[in-house]
Amino acid sequence: MLQLAKRMGRAKPSAIMAVAEKAKALKAAGRDIISFSIGVPNFLPGEHVYAAAREALSKDSGQYGSNRGSDALLDAFIAHIAEIGLTGYERKHCSTGIGAKHVLYSLAEALLEEGDTIVYPSPYWTTYQDIADIVNAKAVTLPCPASQNYKLTPQQLDAAMAEHKPKVFLFNNPSNPTGMVYTKDEIEALAEVLVKYPDTWIITDDIYNRMVFDGLGYHNFVHSKPELRNRVIFVDSLSKTYGMPGWRVGFMAGPESVAKALTTLNSNHITNIPEIVTAAAVAALTGPQTVPTEKNIEFQNKRDLVIAAMNAIPGVVCPKPQGAFYVFPDISCAFGKAHGVKDIHNDIDFCNVLLEAKGVACVPGSAFGEPKALRISYTCPTAQLEPGLKRIQEFFAELS
Ligand SMILES: Cc1ncc(COP(=O)(O)O)c(C=O)c1O
Repeated sequence: MLQLAKRMGRAKPSAIMAVAEKAKALKAAGRDIISFSIGVPNFLPGEHVYAAAREALSKDSGQYGSNRGSDALLDAFIAHIAEIGLTGYERKHCSTGIGAKHVLYSLAEALLEEGDTIVYPSPYWTTYQDIADIVNAKAVTLPCPASQNYKLTPQQLDAAMAEHKPKVFLFNNPSNPTGMVYTKDEIEALAEVLVKYPDTWIITDDIYNRMVFDGLGYHNFVHSKPELRNRVIFVDSLSKTYGMPGWRVGFMAGPESVAKALTTLNSNHITNIPEIVTAAAVAALTGPQTVPTEKNIEFQNKRDLVIAAMNAIPGVVCPKPQGAFYVFPDISCAFGKAHGVKDIHNDIDFCNVLLEAKGVACVPGSAFGEPKALRISYTCPTAQLEPGLKRIQEFFAELS
């Protein structure tokens, strides 16, 4: 019998999509569903982006493009990251991919041998585990529960680096699923630890770097310790900031050798980002920034609504996120209770019963390595957000 490669036995479809599919099926069956499940930004990038795409279409050369990314796109990206203090990068330090997910997958291929260790804090974005599994790396997660604001401490990092001597440390700030943002001091303290371990690559998957609230600002290890530049790989994307998830544009900036490796992988995988998408991406990065700026304000206001609603529920612990568009309440106070005849033993039961009883879709925290919590993605229209939150409050009130 013909066999698939062993790695396919390790590859799993996304747990987040499973919830979204169930919500979609209920909706198709006529149920009134409010979805707080998938992390789609739910806005469009602005007319100038479409105009650039249309113009590129009218002039389309139909040719292959650069494996690294067009010069115009790389230059736009370099100028873009200079605005957040990541200066001094040149085209040779950068590469592109079909979204940050593809960039991360290529980084795993470029940096990890089978059996190598990759360390990252938990809760984590589900794909980290899946990519590690596919490339057969050993994933070590560092538990960061709600009681420590879902943030990694320097002591935890130091102990893990000393014990596991990882090939890669993967960091995500602002975080999906928690929305937490590290302060300048917190980044500085973690950077102090990282300089002690020169044999570890550092990936900062910071695609939500423009979605930071409360004037906190975005900070990277290279801001605190410029000597880390030869090991830090910064990953970025247009998906969330510009409301362009389907356009599939991701980037990296870091050591020249890594950018070259990704470009080589591109030449064997995707060849290039298409010309029309490239034109739209350049327009998004260099054109008016009204949409991302306005959305940041809107998301901060929505964050406040969600936090107020969650913290009004007795027993729920909800650290206040300062970025992205996720809230990650600890709902373990509901475990061991029942809603009507439905027992709730864990986060998966909770999300299933909540969806069936109240028509609200959230993602169980176990998908992100934290089974005490659930993720609320609050990008839906405000008109749906408030009723959705109210339904969650009612659900808790009805538990016995
Ligand atoms: C932390 C994080 N990194 C990367 C990605 C992937 O983004 P892209 O759409 O650019 O592939 C996501 C998407 O949800 C994410 O949350």
